[in-house]
Amino acid sequence: MSPASSYRAVKGTRDLLPPESEKFAAVEAAARAVFSSYGYGEIRTPVLESTELFARSVGETTDIVHKEMYTFLDRKGRSLTLRPENTAGVVRAAIERGLERLPRPLRLWYTGEQFRYERPQKGRYREFRQIGAELVGVAGAASDAEVLTMLFDFLRRLGFSQLSVSLNCVPGGQARETFADALRAHVRPQASRLNEDDRRRVEENPLRLFDSKDPETAAILAGAPTTLAFLDADAAAHFAQVKSLLTAAGIPFTESPTLVRGLDYYTVTVFEVISGGLGAQNAILGGGRYDNLFADMGGPALPAVGFAIGEDRLVEVMPHDPRPLRELWYVLPGSSDEFSYALRVADAIRGAHPAAVAETDMSGRGFSKGFARASQILSGDATYPFRVSEVRVVSVGSEERSEQTVKIKTLSSRQEEVLPFAALGVHAMGEKR
Ligand code: HAM
Repeated sequence: MSPASSYRAVKGTRDLLPPESEKFAAVEAAARAVFSSYGYGEIRTPVLESTELFARSVGETTDIVHKEMYTFLDRKGRSLTLRPENTAGVVRAAIERGLERLPRPLRLWYTGEQFRYERPQKGRYREFRQIGAELVGVAGAASDAEVLTMLFDFLRRLGFSQLSVSLNCVPGGQARETFADALRAHVRPQASRLNEDDRRRVEENPLRLFDSKDPETAAILAGAPTTLAFLDADAAAHFAQVKSLLTAAGIPFTESPTLVRGLDYYTVTVFEVISGGLGAQNAILGGGRYDNLFADMGGPALPAVGFAIGEDRLVEVMPHDPRPLRELWYVLPGSSDEFSYALRVADAIRGAHPAAVAETDMSGRGFSKGFARASQILSGDATYPFRVSEVRVVSVGSEERSEQTVKIKTLSSRQEEVLPFAALGVHAMGEKR
């Protein structure tokens, strides 16, 4: 037993180890493949940003800014925050680096760690990963539809077939004020039933009441006015168009008039996708339009739309293992005398089979235990990093070494063949010749 160490991962953070980490990598590879096929390039922004950035964009009265940020002073007294989300950083970078001068629209995707000081539970961590995309510079409903089509393309590629989008449209400008007033008028007579935080929200930003986890607040909101009655003509037309484009694209959706999303920057379209199997933390992704954020952050007035997927939650509910099936060539030296020859053999196999795994057994356990290990991997060893379709054991004993040959056994068919070393890099073994 290893000595008990007093060092522990910080609460709400976790180590991703193989094979789980390989599932994350496979999901990220699928995101890159799908998103790049729509013209999205990857953006990587810093994990650290100025605190002010999130206060301005996500909003002072949101749960995220109010009580969930990891904020600290650096050695020069500057207030910094570990990013709780990635849209603010993308907008900051786009403005700072003059990306708005590039041909439009700007299509960017990202993956990376986010930090929120929330109560950890299933599907909710203090350090978690998001995969997201932002489409900047197009105002029309076609941009909402493209983003959602790309998202569903990605989800379907991972095997999800039952998911549906919850869709809403939040009023902007004067209509938002009218909606906020109507909400206040509904809630104020019952304000004594609200908790302190929610009472504050009634006055400061009543839309945020919809984020409340308090059942009392939810009960009061049950009969409250909802967004759709307050849309101005432009927003209503935009929403109608988004819905018709989604229908045409075969994206299933339901209207959710109480969905406002927990970040202040949203305008017009907002959406979420929820999934079973996650308990209370059932939103696997969220997004929407943020047509005022660029101007609010001091940049040019650029409309934008995007989403972020909670990667940890996604991996937890995936219908099948996203890792690609790979062949394993298990190079097995008879003793330590054959290690050096075995390494050359494994190298030659890697050259001939770039998609395969060629692993050299360096344990010195010999043939019979080595074969047992190889069979264990083929039968689905839950700790092995990769998903294995076939194992070919490449035995190299003293005879093979002196004759410069290898003996290959395909485990599922039990077929055996002896090949000269020189043929290893040339022939694609295992394929029909
Ligand atoms: P969000 O809804 O705050 O939106 O987060 C997106 C997703 O991140 C959530 O649906 C959830 O799956 C995941 N998530 C959030 N908090 C946690 C947590 N503590 N543990 C695990 N997963 C979590 C945004 O962040 C926006 N920036 C999305 C966006 C991009 N809107 C426009 N562009």
